[in-house]
Amino acid sequence: MTKKIVVFASGSGSNFQSIINATETGSLQAEICGLITNRDNIGAIERAKLHGIQVFIIRAEDFETLADYENNFLEKLEKLAPDLIILAGYLKKIPDAVLNEFEGKILNIHPSLLPAYGGKGMYGQNVHQAVLKSGDTRSGCSVHIVTAEYDEGPVIAQDFVEVKPGDTAETLAARVLEKEHALYPKVIQQFLHQKNTVS
Ligand code: GRF
Repeated sequence: MTKKIVVFASGSGSNFQSIINATETGSLQAEICGLITNRDNIGAIERAKLHGIQVFIIRAEDFETLADYENNFLEKLEKLAPDLIILAGYLKKIPDAVLNEFEGKILNIHPSLLPAYGGKGMYGQNVHQAVLKSGDTRSGCSVHIVTAEYDEGPVIAQDFVEVKPGDTAETLAARVLEKEHALYPKVIQQFLHQKNTVS
């Protein structure tokens, strides 16, 4: 049976694109059955439309109560019934109900070598600026399983880049992002198709 994934994104969606590309070339054997976002007018939505992927914009402010928002979120996901949820630049807390129901089945990619430079407020250029300020000579990206605490779930894969003299947050971010695009689809493929038995 084809494995199903749902992607959550809030921004340009370049990681989402790398996942779409991998499903189209067959290096990632999965069907992307939806994009969930908390924002409209973002690149990720355009990418979904171009590839015939259905989009669900779910915003807490559109619901009267937090419980309504969480229930609606969970109901949508239950209908989509993904094997795995992929966070790709999703900048909103995942409702607890979703975390509970999909425990161990939500992955995120973070642009640093976790546990370094993770946690609340550590996203986008903040991460790369902190790396540059520290004088670290290595940075990279991490794929981890999502838990209730930001960026604290178990890391399952990393890739590295050198921090070069003269790097700015932008140049470092671009180098890390290139690694993200290669790493994330590979890890998703392995995670979805891992063997449960030792042979
Ligand atoms: C990436 O740097 C990723 O590590 C982080 O959010 C960013 C998303 O970028 N979680 P994009 O929208 O995939 O281009």
